[in-house]
Order: sequence, then structure tokens, then C-alpha cells
Amino acid sequence: MIINACKKNNSLNRYSLQQFEVKIKALKSYFNSKTIWITGASSGIGEALTYALSELGARLIISARRQSELERVKSACAHPESVYIITMDLSSPDSVGAAIQLCLGRHQRIDMLFNNGGISQRAEALHTDLEIVRRVMEIDFFSNVALSQAVALHMKEQGGGHIVITSSLMGKWGFYLRSAYAAAKHALHGYYDSMRMEVEPFNIKITLLTPGFIASEISRHALNDKGMATGEMDNNQASGMSTQQCASEILKGVAAAKTEFGIGGKELLGLKLRRFVPAFFEKILRKQSAR
Ligand SMILES: NC(=O)c1ccc[n+]([C@@H]2O[C@H](COP(=O)([O-])OP(=O)(O)OC[C@H]3O[C@@H](n4cnc5c(N)ncnc54)[C@H](OP(=O)(O)O)[C@@H]3O)[C@@H](O)[C@H]2O)c1
Repeated sequence: MIINACKKNNSLNRYSLQQFEVKIKALKSYFNSKTIWITGASSGIGEALTYALSELGARLIISARRQSELERVKSACAHPESVYIITMDLSSPDSVGAAIQLCLGRHQRIDMLFNNGGISQRAEALHTDLEIVRRVMEIDFFSNVALSQAVALHMKEQGGGHIVITSSLMGKWGFYLRSAYAAAKHALHGYYDSMRMEVEPFNIKITLLTPGFIASEISRHALNDKGMATGEMDNNQASGMSTQQCASEILKGVAAAKTEFGIGGKELLGLKLRRFVPAFFEKILRKQSAR
């Protein structure tokens, strides 16, 4: 699957088959036999990462709320016998604490954590109750931090590791209907840019991912102003990069130990426009469809 995703990637046309094989070998050498915890593995980006990492020979612990979906993902993996399920609700500190205890109690080593589970928002700031803002912050920020803290302490003891955080372009700027989501994703950057400096001496790497539009279930699962899932697929998501290609891009960047990188299509141009021509970027942003 990862090999197919790499082949579909246009950039591959620039490389000879030999160079392509070198890349797959590099991925295998980075992820093979590693013990990797992936949150948000029951759908979307986390599901695609699970398939790709299983194919690369990693031992996996996969988490989300829906056990039945995790079972489906496990059974579709290349090596289901090396996939362990731990259910966890990121909106509940007790559930996150129990999952951490279970995971660290059962596995002597955790080489990598893909801190990927999360939820978005499609509701106006003025009509989003503080209770919903807090829920988004709990899922997308506080639980993410709780997992990283516990796993990083474990990694320090074992002599190193790699933590990968799925942020978003919404961690770089704000947008219509996403005030709480953008706030939570911005908070991740402040937290992990600081934590990275502190844990580097312990051989712990931290990578922040900033995906753009990826064709997952994110907009369907996003919370509306009633705190319910919208159930609607946004045009931007529907026409976005496939989750399979996204996973392939993520693994290439992570294996290269990048500190932060974007994944997606032309929306990534925003990163450069915002930096070099901010007033022009603000104008363009206001003209984009909220969905
Ligand atoms: N798709 C995009 O365009 C895009 C862009 C930028 C960033 N991202 C980020 O990518 C990450 C993955 O999202 P996705 O696009 O793959 O969306 P998705 O298909 O909706 O997947 C979200 C995953 O998070 C899990 N999750 C949600 N709420 C949870 C909770 N309370 N407790 C435990 N797990 C929970 C879901 O599992 P359960 O429902 O089974 O719990 C699911 O596995 C998120 O952090 C998202 O913010 C996505």
C-alpha cells in the first residue's frame, strides 16, 4: 500500500526505479520492528498510517473510541498479528490516563507515538458555547499533551524515541467556522516547539505535521454549534489529497526527522504567501469557501 501510494505520487516521475527502491528501503529501515502507538487510527489519516506502518513491519498499538472500527482496521493490516488495540476517549482525562497505563504497562518500549486523533469544528465563534470550545481543546490539545508527556518520560528512560503530532494548517492561521479548532492547533505549536528543545538532549525527536485538505472524514465528524457531528463532507476535503498519499508523505518526512512540514496540495502555498506577502495572503484567505 505504501509502495502504491509512493508510485501514485507525481514527484516519483523524477526518480528512477532504483532511487525509488532506495527510498522504500530507507522507510523500512526507519520503521521496521519499531513499536509505534497511533491515535485516531479508526479512520482517515490514522487508518492510512496504520496500514502503511504495518506493511513496513512495525509493531502497532492503535487507539480511538470505536472498537469495532479499530478491529476492522486491524484485520485489514498486512500483519494483524502485530497490531494491538487500546480504546480511548480523548475527551476524558480518565480514559486517556487508563490507556497510557495499559500501553506503558504492556509494552516495554514505545519507539514512536503518532499523536494524531482529533476533531474539527464547523461553527461560528459567536455561537459556539464555551463548553464546546473546552471539548475541542480537551481532545485536540490537553489529551495530546497528556499522551506525549507520559510517552516522552518512558522514551527518556529507554534512551530515545520520536513523537509525531498531527497539527494542521489551522495551526498556522485562523479561518471561518474553526475558531476553537484553530486555537487548539496553534497551542500545539507553542507547546511542542518548546518541548522539542527540552527533550532533544534525551534523543527524543518531535515532528509537527501541518496537513492541508486531506480526503478523510474530518468534516463529517466536525462539531457544529450544538456540539454534534455535522455529518457533511466539505468540498475541500472531498477534493483533497488521498489519505493513502498523505500517509506516504508523512512517513517520508518523519523518517527524514523533519521538525515540521506541510502535506497537501496547492493550499500549502499559503505557508509561503503568509510569510512573504501577508496582506495579499489575508485577502486571498477571505475569498476562500469556508467548506
Ligand atoms: N483531513 C484533513 O483535511 C486534516 C487537515 C489537517 C489536520 N487534520 C488532523 O488530522 C488528524 C486526523 O484526522 P482525520 O483527517 O483522519 O479525520 P477523521 O477521519 O475524522 O479521523 C479522526 C480520528 O480521531 C479519532 N477521534 C476523534 N475524536 C476522538 C475522541 N474523543 N477520542 C478518541 N479518538 C477520537 C477518531 O476515532 P473515533 O471516532 O473512533 O474515536 C478517528 O480515528 C486530526 O488531528 C485532524 O485535526 C486533518
